[in-house]
Amino acid sequence: MKNTLLGLLTLVASFNVFAQTGEEFFTANCVACHGEQGNSLAASFPKLAGQNAKYLIKQINDFKSGARVNGLMVAPMAALPDEMINEVAQYLSKQNPSIGSAKADLVELGQMLYKAGNIETGVPACSACHSPTGKGNAPGGIPMLSGQHAGYVESQLYAYRLGARDESASDSVRVNDGDTKIMRSIAFKLKDFEIEAVASYINGLH
Ligand code: HEC
Ligand code: HEC
Repeated sequence: MKNTLLGLLTLVASFNVFAQTGEEFFTANCVACHGEQGNSLAASFPKLAGQNAKYLIKQINDFKSGARVNGLMVAPMAALPDEMINEVAQYLSKQNPSIGSAKADLVELGQMLYKAGNIETGVPACSACHSPTGKGNAPGGIPMLSGQHAGYVESQLYAYRLGARDESASDSVRVNDGDTKIMRSIAFKLKDFEIEAVASYINGLH
């Protein structure tokens, strides 16, 4: 009797997943870290609101396959059924992203790097791919950066930079930018003070 009841409850629970919308699933499973409508409040958790669906889906699949690694994302990704990935991504892509502000003393350098790169060290302009306003490129799956937490942007640039040397993904190493190593080769050329400036600029960009 107990087993039947448990079986029945499990059945109801699993059916329920498919009845949920992307919004309901996100609100129940992801808001604690990524914030209401995907506008997280803490810099260690990326904002997802307004991010393009193609990029979101790629990152989710990369976390699921282990190509991108983060300890905090393991349990949520295991709980995310494949049927729900597109629903959640579509929902997030339609939310309004919150924008921050750049630190006054970092704007000049940050803007120069973002819009022109650094010719001396071979850093290309971020705007060439992520667009001048930071909205990214939805059909190409290039992520929107505008308004993203500076702390998160910094952590990813450091992780790509480490990834240029170390091929294995871990919490502090990011290697999922493809065979062309687009972001790893760019981050490899960035100095710490440049990472701080461009991340601050991106937080206020829109
Ligand atoms: C316990 C906290 C936590 C929960 C819950 C959580 N995440 Fe995350 N998520 C993170 C962290 C931390 C990162 C950044 C990982 C890194 O630094 O590489 C992240 C990154 C992501 C990214 C990559 C964003 C980007 O800009 O590259 C996506 C997409 C994402 N999470 C989706 C989800 C979804 C969908 C759920 C719910 C099913 C979820 N997360 C639940 C902590 C969490
Ligand atoms: C040639 C195109 C290109 C250029 C130039 C470029 N990026 Fe990227 N960037 C990408 C792509 C593609 C990704 C996504 C990789 C993936 O799929 O995981 C990305 C990802 C990122 C991410 C991770 C976003 C997230 O939500 O986790 C950050 C941060 C970033 N880029 C910052 C920069 C900065 C800063 C510059 C300029 C110094 C720059 N990018 C220049 C193509 C580019």
